[in-house]
Amino acid sequence: MRTVTCAAPVNIAVIKYWGKRDERLILPVNDSISFTLSLDEMYSKTTVSISPTFTEDKFWLNGKEESLENPRIQNCLKEIRRRASKRKLEGSDEDVLNWHVHICSANNFPTAAGLASSAAGYACLVYALGQVYGVEGDLSSIARQGSGSACRSVHGGLVRWYKGEMEDGTDSFARPIAPANHFPNLRVIICVANDGRKKTGSTEGMRRTVQTSRLMQYRIRESVGLRIDSMMQAIKEKNWSAFCDLTIADSNEMHAVCQDSFPPCIYMSDTSHAVASLVHQYNEIQISKGNLNNKVCYTFDAGPNACLFVPGAVANEMLSLLLRTFPPSSPPNADNFIRGMKPQTLSLSKELESIADENAQSGRLKYLIHTKVGEGPRVLTEDGAHLLDPVSGLPT
Ligand code: DP6
Repeated sequence: MRTVTCAAPVNIAVIKYWGKRDERLILPVNDSISFTLSLDEMYSKTTVSISPTFTEDKFWLNGKEESLENPRIQNCLKEIRRRASKRKLEGSDEDVLNWHVHICSANNFPTAAGLASSAAGYACLVYALGQVYGVEGDLSSIARQGSGSACRSVHGGLVRWYKGEMEDGTDSFARPIAPANHFPNLRVIICVANDGRKKTGSTEGMRRTVQTSRLMQYRIRESVGLRIDSMMQAIKEKNWSAFCDLTIADSNEMHAVCQDSFPPCIYMSDTSHAVASLVHQYNEIQISKGNLNNKVCYTFDAGPNACLFVPGAVANEMLSLLLRTFPPSSPPNADNFIRGMKPQTLSLSKELESIADENAQSGRLKYLIHTKVGEGPRVLTEDGAHLLDPVSGLPT
């Protein structure tokens, strides 16, 4: 039996992937750019075992056995096996490719956060399968076939997913464009909104947008390509202020095309808008003081939770501002309100205190996740890392 366990990170797009040109191969209508988040606070973990004694392929997700019929998982598995068959498997015969596989995956962050769990999950699955079958080379184009955004979680730091031009998708892959410390000491604050509404999933939402939104045609033809160029320039020049403006503009454009779809896809809630407005007020103050490097930016995926990118120098201030503006509604939540990296002393200037008090709405946010940007997937070798027993191949 061979058993490997890996962890893969979440990524958050600053130029969004929204819309496919090929649904089956998962090919996007535009390039996208993302930041990979640190594995310290949020990750997907997957154990893959292959053995000649297994009688069928099996899959467990977050503790529950699930069907492996899902075509997206099947596509990833098929592609890994196809690549493995092209090279001689180390110290083994061809039989290994006929062995059945057991896969067990779990996220360490609550699915309630609605945060790119499929991206981390598919990146982890493909990375772990790649390790077990000894597949080398680019794994992003395989992860892409699980979930588009997953292709970017295969790398750390700032990552660009090139949409590609070919019909067979061979030139649609993700590549790292800058390391995690490119903007030094950058923090991430995810504002988990108290919003249990059922949303339209990304796959359905983007299909509807491509089919019905005229504004989407403007985004594809006129806007997002130029924004990608400007973002590449901002990254190259380490221009944080421009990076922030472009990130905010692209998130807002994505949600505008969602709103323009028929029927509209509404992902941002009143709370989302309140967080966005607070960030703009905060940035006005920084701009008025000439501290452009202290600007904060927000971006929203297909849900109400804001993801903020925050320079380390103002991370504690931003956490304090959020805590004072959106305090937890009841004391039991208070202890657990800031999760992840522990903040240092929380304090606010009089000016920020009054902004918080003017905007205060308790109970709007469930909690904050405080983390940073980070590296790509890795193999876990520490004792007890496996989710499958290395002898029985069943969940531990
Ligand atoms: C809003 O990758 O979840 O997070 O390819 O259909 O699985 P599928 O969609 P998915 O879309 C994520 C879209 C987004 C923006 C982004 O991550 O770029």
